[in-house]
Amino acid sequence: MIGVLVSGTGTNLQVLLDEGLPVVAVASNTSTARALERAAEAGVPTAVFELSAFPDRAARDNAIADWLEQHAVELVVCAGYMHLLEPTFLARFPGRVVNVHPAPLPEFPGAHPLEDLLAAGAEQAAATVHYVDEGVDTGAVIASEPVAVRPGDSVEALRERVHEAEHRLLPKVVRALCAR
Ligand code: GRF
Repeated sequence: MIGVLVSGTGTNLQVLLDEGLPVVAVASNTSTARALERAAEAGVPTAVFELSAFPDRAARDNAIADWLEQHAVELVVCAGYMHLLEPTFLARFPGRVVNVHPAPLPEFPGAHPLEDLLAAGAEQAAATVHYVDEGVDTGAVIASEPVAVRPGDSVEALRERVHEAEHRLLPKVVRALCAR
């Protein structure tokens, strides 16, 4: 049973739904995430946990963990989720939280890796799925599919090709983790 954390558009969530993976709960840190509509359209329960509704991040993340547990979630997939997870959350799902990131790790972590790698003159971006730990994109890499940078690439053009790779890789990895 999979719980997905989202903040944005949700194309990776959509692929998991379309491929029939057992997504049973979708949570967001913001009510404006388009991903919430995708979940609702698929009949999957959603919930919004805005930071402003809680005394601190740990309380918010515990509330998310409670809600995911109520939905019998065993594996948590961060798919475009833009907040760090508190240690208290990770302790509730030890070794069972993964994230999809649009660049090679550990080389290009953070919120703007495509901008960073183009500025650094790197030859490859990547779709990367990794375990989540307490750092910023520092957990062990599970699988990665390289995406070649083309001469004159814009961030947008590169992002589109990375998204295609993510949509191939993420469901494959999630299916394998579910089979364990
Ligand atoms: C993906 O590119 C992922 O690597 C990054 O955020 C993006 C989410 O895209 N962490 P989407 O919301 O799944 O379309």
